Amino acid sequence: MQIIRKLDELNEFLAPVWADDNDLLAYVPTMGALHSGHVSLIHKAKEVAQKIIVSIFVNPLQFGPNEDLDSYPRSIDEDIIKLWAAEIDYLYIPELTEVELESLTKINADREISKILCGKSRSGHFDGVCTIVNHFFKTIKPDFAVFGEKDFQQVKIIEQMILEQAFNITLIPAPIFREASGLAMSSRNSYLDDQEKTQAAFIYESILKEKQLLEDLLFPPQEEQILNSINTIKEKLSNAGFRVDYVEFHWSRIFVAAYLGNTRLIDNIEIVT
Ligand code: PAJ
Repeated sequence: MQIIRKLDELNEFLAPVWADDNDLLAYVPTMGALHSGHVSLIHKAKEVAQKIIVSIFVNPLQFGPNEDLDSYPRSIDEDIIKLWAAEIDYLYIPELTEVELESLTKINADREISKILCGKSRSGHFDGVCTIVNHFFKTIKPDFAVFGEKDFQQVKIIEQMILEQAFNITLIPAPIFREASGLAMSSRNSYLDDQEKTQAAFIYESILKEKQLLEDLLFPPQEEQILNSINTIKEKLSNAGFRVDYVEFHWSRIFVAAYLGNTRLIDNIEIVT
């Protein structure tokens, strides 16, 4: 695994890959604090490409002023060991100075998709995601990019950006990787103690309990009962000590964002399979 910190090194190492039509390049963007969910994206990437590149960059542009940029977990040494073990080809860890945030081309996330769910409560978040992903797509020039459905709205927004910016990149979505308890893995789970982790698994459990009912209510759509079912999930979460940001139905999925203490957790489950 080649560790790359500078743009000119990136160009040097990737030039032969770009030049070889038989060497397809798959890219997995991350903000580090890697867990098995991230590693599952690498496995997915290996299904489609010969060369794998992962980036680690905690992107200040996608954090709001009252969010956790400063406390966001950073564990670069452990991350490097995990990536060695996962046998990737290149790890790109640019310094903050290397990326020059102020001079990046600013990309606005799709208006429609970014005004719902996390876009509503995290103003400017998806513009920050698009701006950095656009930059990395332009510098890394991958054939494929793998994104997790844990952030399903992000997948939709990046798909749209790929179309709008006419990137020749195929986005590969990867399913949510969960703890045995059902808790969706997330770097932010490190903010939780053991008891909170057990409690956090209730998000998945509470959506799963309504899944069958919701499926039955969809064909033909029975709107009032669907809303009742969504409210049931909200109530259960509130009663279990969560501060619910949203429970909503989009793209045939139920989406939940809820705070446990100061930790914001998100999850989603496909209802129509
Ligand atoms: P980060 O939160 O580090 O996530 C990197 C990738 O891992 C994303 O595509 C995310 O959806 C995926 N991921 C995280 N947890 C997962 C899980 N439990 N199962 C499957 N996939 C999972 O998402 C970002 O970083 C940033 O917004 C980024 C795209 C890197 C831009 O800064």
